[in-house]
Amino acid sequence: MKIVVIGGTGLIGSKTVAILRQGGHEVVAASPNSGVNTITGEGLKEALADAQVVIDLANSPSFEDKAVLEFFETSGRNLLAAEAAAGVRHHVALSIVGTDRSDNGYFRAKVAQEKLIVASGIPYTIIRSTQFMEFLGGIAASSADGNVVRLSPGLFQPIASDDVAASVAEVALAAPRNGIVEIAGPERAPFNEIVARYLKALGDPREVVRDPEARYFGSRVEEKSLVPLGEARLGRIGLDEWLRRSRAVA
Ligand SMILES: NC(=O)c1ccc[n+]([C@@H]2O[C@H](COP(=O)([O-])OP(=O)(O)OC[C@H]3O[C@@H](n4cnc5c(N)ncnc54)[C@H](OP(=O)(O)O)[C@@H]3O)[C@@H](O)[C@H]2O)c1
Repeated sequence: MKIVVIGGTGLIGSKTVAILRQGGHEVVAASPNSGVNTITGEGLKEALADAQVVIDLANSPSFEDKAVLEFFETSGRNLLAAEAAAGVRHHVALSIVGTDRSDNGYFRAKVAQEKLIVASGIPYTIIRSTQFMEFLGGIAASSADGNVVRLSPGLFQPIASDDVAASVAEVALAAPRNGIVEIAGPERAPFNEIVARYLKALGDPREVVRDPEARYFGSRVEEKSLVPLGEARLGRIGLDEWLRRSRAVA
């Protein structure tokens, strides 16, 4: 089966490509560096020829509100139009748990991406994931003011990118759901506590302060803003195991 992974060189994309190739599938890892650009349309038609499944794992180079909305709208429109022309039978995309429950620019852009997929008429599965563990350092940095990191005690359930990629590959090989599946990490705890554990494990001296008013991507985090409300597929790699593996790789 020919599968095209848009954003196939990214964090989740490269791992998904490796899993699918190991399974013996013909996989195109598509990205601007390999001549496939969903914003300009360059290389899309050629990459999608004879593809049965397209997995969209592209991300916006800018997270600024207007830029990120423009990225996911333009990329989604161009990609879905090319898929319709090529007769693609399953579109898979990676979105975010709670994207329709928090009001911030990045989440609004992901909602816009989801809407285009639903309206496209192409059979699809949207995977909504919680935050990747690989993103914890970035979260701490963006919530830091000097040596103090302010984070909400809202619940957080990060997932390792290896678990995300495994789920994405599995979903891509299954029949389209024409709906949403949710994935999350195996442990759920207050946001501030998880980031404090992460920084402590790294020997990072910054202090994490519990602050119910602290914003995430500009929006307030309520108790269940960022965790699945219903059934979710859980990853196998907990935070301690992920830290152990990350140290081993480093
Ligand atoms: N971070 C989180 O916690 C989280 C949680 C849930 C869902 N997600 C979603 O997961 C998805 C993947 O994220 P990631 O962290 O794996 O992304 P990433 O590592 O930043 O990789 C982004 C990929 O997109 C490609 N790309 C950028 N512009 C493109 C364009 N115009 N046309 C085609 N490809 C383009 C990049 O290609 P180059 O290498 O050539 O630049 C790269 O392969 C995103 O859609 C994100 O919204 C993230």
